[in-house]
Amino acid sequence: SYNGLSLTPPMGFNDWAGFECNSDMNEALFTKTADEIVSLGLNKLGYDYVNIDDCWMQKTRDANGNLQVDATRFPHGLKWLGDYIHSKGLKFGIYEDAGYNTCQGAAGSYGHFQQDANLYASWGVDYLKLDYCYEPMDQFPGKTESQVAQIVYTEASQALLNTHRPMQFSESAPAYVCCSGPDFTNELTWLYQHGNLWRFGSDIYDAWPSVLENYSEDNTPGLAQWAGPGHWNDADMLEVGNGGLTPTEEQTQMTLWSEMASPILLSTDLSKLTPTEVGIVSNRDVVAVDQDKLGAQGTIVQSGTGYDVLAKPLANGDVSVVLFNKGDTAQTVTTNASTIGLPARDTPFRLTDLVSKAVSASDGTISAALAPHATVIYRVHPGADKHLPIHTAATISSS
Ligand code: DGJ
Repeated sequence: SYNGLSLTPPMGFNDWAGFECNSDMNEALFTKTADEIVSLGLNKLGYDYVNIDDCWMQKTRDANGNLQVDATRFPHGLKWLGDYIHSKGLKFGIYEDAGYNTCQGAAGSYGHFQQDANLYASWGVDYLKLDYCYEPMDQFPGKTESQVAQIVYTEASQALLNTHRPMQFSESAPAYVCCSGPDFTNELTWLYQHGNLWRFGSDIYDAWPSVLENYSEDNTPGLAQWAGPGHWNDADMLEVGNGGLTPTEEQTQMTLWSEMASPILLSTDLSKLTPTEVGIVSNRDVVAVDQDKLGAQGTIVQSGTGYDVLAKPLANGDVSVVLFNKGDTAQTVTTNASTIGLPARDTPFRLTDLVSKAVSASDGTISAALAPHATVIYRVHPGADKHLPIHTAATISSS
């Protein structure tokens, strides 16, 4: 990648989906989150970023033009918080906006990219999410929105590099500036040279239609080719734990985001996760699909009424396959070896259900009886031992 970072999609925490700018978005939330990541063992699975979103800063800069921390929320300041997070072996992320103001009206970074980058570096920041409200269009008469975005994001990216501190760079521009159909190729050509990940679609919210919408946006034809080691399409945060999804839907979000090689950023009070939810986010076989070193984004290889089948090639030659019932009635979804990209000579093959851990053998078909909104995710390995049970449709009922 352009800065040597993000060889697999970033994982960790960002507060926005769960807390926005509520009063509990404060220092204690982030120290507690860092503690919980370690006590749940999530750090060992790769969840290592603890990222602050909007509202950490004041509305105005100080006399020297420096950003000022909201001292009510962060009484010890952000250097202190960064040190705390690092002391747990984790990494520290922060948020700004490439325009005049953040979306919530605090001081934006436009006109101060280098000064701000130096400040982040002095605090030990490891990750910047750069939003794009209040676009500075009036500074660039005659330029298009896309051209202006390219100018400001390129400048901000260079400012981070100039600090010589490695910082992942998350670019929100495409969520504002582009894209439908082929237009986004134009944007992604520069975005991927200057950043590690980008928000493409809508802001996630805590309900099933939002999961479905962001999933669909992330499957815009032609988008997947832009994902790979160092640069990722960001389908936005996980809503696991926030109360608006059923356990089936929470599992489905984790499964789909992993299949799509999206960043996995939790956004909830981790101390309140149920054992089922802890199991969902800490399933190492599903995480391994997200974090696979080949870095391919899984794509839809088959769809029908209310269902999709996705396939994602993995570094060791296996294929990860997801059968997804998008609809509101139960249905059996079936696919086969050639559809998921396994040549006939690789049959029979072995299938591991990455949630139930059941292993079976198949001569060609892969099938599951799925409750509404349910998914099943298999790792498919070419070649199977004779003694394995023959694959029959797994039944995934709703919970
Ligand atoms: C819009 C972004 O898409 C969200 O993820 C969040 O960062 C808010 N802005 C904060 O204001």
